[in-house]
Amino acid sequence: MTTSQDLAKQDAARRAVDLVRSGMVLGLGTGSTAKLAVDEIGRRLAAGDLHDIVGVPTSEATERQAAALGIPLSTLDRHPRVELTIDGADEVDPHGRLIKGGGGALLREKIVATASRRLAIVVDASKLVERLGATFPVPIEVTPFGWTTHLDPIRALGGEPVLRARDGTPYRTDGGNLILDVTFAGGLADPEGVAAAIRARPGVVETGLFLGFSPEVIVGHAR
Ligand code: A5P
Repeated sequence: MTTSQDLAKQDAARRAVDLVRSGMVLGLGTGSTAKLAVDEIGRRLAAGDLHDIVGVPTSEATERQAAALGIPLSTLDRHPRVELTIDGADEVDPHGRLIKGGGGALLREKIVATASRRLAIVVDASKLVERLGATFPVPIEVTPFGWTTHLDPIRALGGEPVLRARDGTPYRTDGGNLILDVTFAGGLADPEGVAAAIRARPGVVETGLFLGFSPEVIVGHAR
């Protein structure tokens, strides 16, 4: 059954793909909404409405999906300047700050977003929050070596970390790292301060706090 949330995601994905022009190097995001955008890019390429697109995927899952759709793929090493990235988010605040990484791809997503001239974030209205962390835990990617050393310092910052697991075993990112999902009761009063404190710890690879990107946020609606 198609829900109104599915329709809203579809709407956001289509409107983001309207920003795509032939010849662009495109960052391809990860997650269910970004997946719809990749599907739409594939459709428009197959229909001849777009041509000469090169996609830089942000995860192995997206790479598989895009390859199956016949979207020509590249890497940041070959195409370090990305014109536009279309990606999803778990939360968006009124300042365009994001939580990402619910799908585990936060590191590659942040690298590709940083290499991008424009970042389009596709969401439905349920992702809009007044304060980051209010509804979604902050994913933090850490190396397997010494991961428990981060637990008490994160608690001292007001967070409650939980090791992400899938089918009873620790979840591994595409880079082979672990993810701590950190709940901050009431959300984050100072996302920049918390991100800086966590990032400063050796063994922390990246956080799912996407701050300072000034994304174009496209909120889909069920039509
Ligand atoms: C992937 O790691 C995430 O950053 C996703 O972009 C995020 O979880 C949004 O996914 P949905 O579009 O499935 O909600």
